[in-house]
Amino acid sequence: AKTYQIAVIPGDGTGPEVIREGVKVLEAVSVKHGFKLELEEFDFGGERYKRTGETLPDSALNELSKKDAIYLGAIGHPDVKPGILEKGILLKLRFALDQYINLRPVKLYEGVYTPLKDKGPADIDFVVIRENTEGLYTGAGGFLKKGTPDEIAIQESINTRKGVERCLRYAFEYCRKRNKKKELLLCGKTNVLTYAFDLWERTFHELAQEYTDIKIQYAHVDATCMWMVKNPEWFDVIVTDNMFGDIITDLGAIIQGGMGIAAGANINPEGVSMFEPIGGSAPKYAGKNMINPLAAICAGQMMLETLGEERAAADVEQAVMKALKKDIKSLSAGKMGMSTSEVGDLIAKYVSEI
Ligand code: IPM
Ligand code: MN
Repeated sequence: AKTYQIAVIPGDGTGPEVIREGVKVLEAVSVKHGFKLELEEFDFGGERYKRTGETLPDSALNELSKKDAIYLGAIGHPDVKPGILEKGILLKLRFALDQYINLRPVKLYEGVYTPLKDKGPADIDFVVIRENTEGLYTGAGGFLKKGTPDEIAIQESINTRKGVERCLRYAFEYCRKRNKKKELLLCGKTNVLTYAFDLWERTFHELAQEYTDIKIQYAHVDATCMWMVKNPEWFDVIVTDNMFGDIITDLGAIIQGGMGIAAGANINPEGVSMFEPIGGSAPKYAGKNMINPLAAICAGQMMLETLGEERAAADVEQAVMKALKKDIKSLSAGKMGMSTSEVGDLIAKYVSEI
C-alpha cells in the first residue's frame, strides 16, 4: 500500500484535541482507500518553549523537510509574549520550507450559520490564495531612535518579482483547474502602495496573456472586504499579498461559519506542505472536549487532496457535510450538541459509510 510520512505538530491549547480527531478521520479514510499514514509527532509549541527555551531547532527543520506533509494544530500560548512562538515556529516553518502559497477556501456548507443576511451556500464559495513568504511578514525594518520621543518604527513590505510571479502563476493555474467561473481577482491597494502593488499588477497583466481563458479583475483590499460582506457570490478566486490575505481570510472565516470550520494549506508545490485549522489555540477551551474539530478535519481533507488522495478527500468533505446538515447544532465551542471527540467519531463513522 502507498505510505505517506506525516509530521504531526499538535501544538498549544486546543491544538492537540482537534488534531486527535483529525487523525481519527484520516485513519478511517486511509483504511477505506487502502493507503497508509505513518505519523511522527513533534512537540513544538509553548510548553516546550517554556521548558527549554527552544522554538524550532534547525535539526527539526531538516527532519520535517523529509516528510510528505505536516499536520499542525495551533501555535500560541497565553504565558508567552506574542510574536515569539508565531515567528519562531509557525512563520519559520512557512518560510524555511518555502511554503509560498497559503490556500484558504471560503465555503459555506448547508446547515451552517452565516452572519450574512440572505446569503446561503450558493453565494459563499470562493478561494483566497495568499502569498505566504514575503510582504510585511519578512521582518524587514527596524527602529530608529528607539525609546526616544522621536522614535520611528519601520516595517517594510518585501515583494520580489520571483515571489510575486510564482504566487500569481499558482493562482492562475488554480483558477483554471477549479473551473468554476474562471475569474481571478487581484486584491491590492494600487492607489496607495504604489511600488508593491505596481509590481503585482504588472506581473498579473503579463501572466494574464498566457491564461486567456481566465477573466481577470482587480479590487482594492478595502473594497474587497465590503464586497465579501455584501456580494460574496461575486468571487471565484482571490489572489493577494501576505498581510491582506491574513486579514481578508479572517473575514472569510466568519462568513463561512467561523474558526470552527476554517482550514488552510501552506503549500510548497515542489516541497513539503503544511495543513492547519486557521483559528488559534483557544486556551480557555483547552482540555475541555468542547472545541469544534471540524476545521482540523477539513485541514486533513486539504492534506489528502494535496497528497493526491482526491477520492479520500472527497469522502471527508461528504462526511463533514452530512454531519453539518443532520447532527451538529452549531460550530461554536460548547454549543455543538456533542463533544470534540464525538464529532470526530461521527465523521470517522460517516467516512466509512459513504
Ligand atoms: C494566520 C495567523 C498567523 C498569520 C499568525 C498567528 C502569525 O493569523 O495563520 O492567519 O498572521 O499568518
Ligand atoms: Mn490570520
